[in-house]
Amino acid sequence: MDFKEKIRVIPDFPHPGIRFKDITTLLKDGPSYKAAINQLADQLKGKQIDVIVGPEARGFVVGAPLAYALEIGFVPVRKAGKLPAETVEANYSLEYGKDALAIHKDAIQPGQKVLIADDLLATGGTISATLDLVRQLGGQPIGLAFLIELTYLNGRDKLKELDIVSLVQY
Ligand code: PRP
Repeated sequence: MDFKEKIRVIPDFPHPGIRFKDITTLLKDGPSYKAAINQLADQLKGKQIDVIVGPEARGFVVGAPLAYALEIGFVPVRKAGKLPAETVEANYSLEYGKDALAIHKDAIQPGQKVLIADDLLATGGTISATLDLVRQLGGQPIGLAFLIELTYLNGRDKLKELDIVSLVQY
């Protein structure tokens, strides 16, 4: 399936010069959404994964159905201040801006094998912070899965030691 065809590109959003990859057009198309998740799940079959971690908000729409498909648990990473129980935090910079991410302290057990899923790999800032959170809890990151990879931002360079799966590249 040509997933690129289903992703809408919005020029100059949220800032001039940024060509925003809008996945809502893919998500609202049931067969395309299902095929995208299934294709990621197929590429991950055979890997031993204990839990999937996904960063707010678009990481949820990839990570949660992927966890369901693989019959494993899902752990949300949220913007700092949103999770109700005890957390650890990590600061990060975005393609456009800065923020802090948080995870519940008891969300991952030391030694658990963790796959991180998100909609898009851009600079790798979000994923680096998410990796930091997983490692703070003693989790073992074993791979990363994305719908989209913006190869021209070289996010992969920051993430060399990890297996990366992405469905669509720009
Ligand atoms: C977007 C996107 C990724 C991240 C990619 O999330 O969903 O998580 O940016 O950029 P990076 O590789 O440069 O870090 P955003 O922070 O806009 O949050 P949202 O999903 O809540 O909209």
